[in-house]
This record gives sequence, C-alpha cells and structure tokens, in this order.
Amino acid sequence: MQNIADSTDTPIVICGLSQEFTGRRVLQDIHLRVPAGTTLALLGPSGCGKSTLLKLLAGLLQPSSGEIRFGERLIASREVCILPEQRDIGMVFQDYALWPHMSVAQNVDFPLRMRRVARAERALRVATALERVGLAAFAGRKPSELSGGQQQRVALARAIVAEPRVLLFDEPLSNLDSELRESLCREMARLLRQLGITAVYVTHDRSEAHQLAHHIAHMAQGRIVDHHAV
Ligand SMILES: Nc1ncnc2c1ncn2[C@@H]1O[C@H](COP(=O)(O)OP(=O)(O)O)[C@@H](O)[C@H]1O
Ligand SMILES: [Mg+2]
Repeated sequence: MQNIADSTDTPIVICGLSQEFTGRRVLQDIHLRVPAGTTLALLGPSGCGKSTLLKLLAGLLQPSSGEIRFGERLIASREVCILPEQRDIGMVFQDYALWPHMSVAQNVDFPLRMRRVARAERALRVATALERVGLAAFAGRKPSELSGGQQQRVALARAIVAEPRVLLFDEPLSNLDSELRESLCREMARLLRQLGITAVYVTHDRSEAHQLAHHIAHMAQGRIVDHHAV
C-alpha cells in the first residue's frame, strides 16, 4: 500500500468529458487539471452537474465521451471504466453513509479489511486516522451516539485511512448547522494541507470553496465557465 508521501504525485487530468442521460447532455466537454497534492473546488448551483462529474471521477458512472486520468493511468473513457475500488480513492458524501451496526473504529477499519491489510497494521492505521480527525476517544461508540459533525469526521477518517491517491467530497458539510460547518471546514482545510493529497471538493458554498481549495472551477449548466486560483 502507498504511503502519503507517494500519493502527492497524482494529478487528475480530465479531457473532453461529456455525460448524457437518455439523450440529455448533463456535462458538456469538461477540461480540467488538478495538480498533484492540490484541492480543486467544483462550485455551482444545484443541478449544474457537480455530482455527476464527481461520480465519473469515482467510477459510479461511465462517461459518454472524453477521458479521465489519475497520473498516467487512464481510469475512464467510453471504452474503459476502472472499478471504484480499484481507483485508490476516498469519498465523503453529504449523508455520511456510515454503517449503523458498526462502531466508529469498525467503520474506519472497513476499507483496510477490504484491502486485506494485516490486523496489527489496521489497528495502528485506524488509531492514526481517528487521531487526525480528533475522534481518538470515540473509537468504541456507535454512529447513532455521535453528533452530525462527529459522524462526518468518522466518514472523513474512513476516507483517508487507506491513504488513497485521490479524495472526493460531495457537499460534505451541507447537512450541518452553520457554526459546525465553519469549524469543520477549517479543520478539513488543515487536514488536506497536512496530507498533501489530490482532492476534488463539490460545493455550492462560495466561502467553503475559498477556504478549502487551491483552485476553483465554476460550473453552470454542465460546463466549466471559469477556473481560477484562490
Ligand atoms: N442518473 C441520472 N439520470 C438522469 N438524469 C440525471 C441523473 N443524475 C443526474 N441527472 C440530472 O443531471 C443534472 C445534474 O445533476 P447533478 O450532477 O446531480 O447536479 P448537482 O450535483 O450540481 O446538483 C440534473 O438536471 C439532474 O436531474
Ligand atoms: Mg449534487
């Protein structure tokens, strides 16, 4: 398995990407490059195609045309679609998507079990990931015993525990109240800098995008309409 230092060398390159659903074009000729170790925010109103683009990056959809590369590796095109679990990504969604019957530690351990990491190393990595998100003391709790903000931290720990090459976020703070949103946003910004990982962060919130990202791509009606450094 890769360590964090290695993961900083994975840029994302998106070239001529389009997506149609039953003849309706939802993404139109997207070109984007996310330099290795940086965070790109995809910013735009509801319905503009942000989640569709993120799903294409995650492997939950196959593009109608165009290509996505992680580093040199072609991961998606009309002909090629690498499975999500083979893309070496971590994902955080709006609704946390934690397993309710598992403890915090078991939730975070799950990606490592899937990758058949040895038990002793798993314990160490789970502890480190929980430490990183400030939840070391909550390892034995169930998700239902945690606040929304804490649950999202668990999801974040689960996303980073296997030290993926790419992190993908789909409006992870949208379900939290504004105070919590601000503090978790600051923390995620700090963590992303610390990890130096390549990340794509979907949001409709301009201030979140500015706080977290190195670059912002503005989307409207399935197109990138502006792209600038923060
Ligand atoms: N599986 C699908 N089938 C048909 N239309 C879809 C599907 N997924 C998304 N869409 C449509 O594509 C457009 C973009 O959706 P989405 O990517 O979810 O936007 P955003 O995340 O920016 O709110 C919307 O009009 C939505 O209704
Ligand atoms: Mg969305």
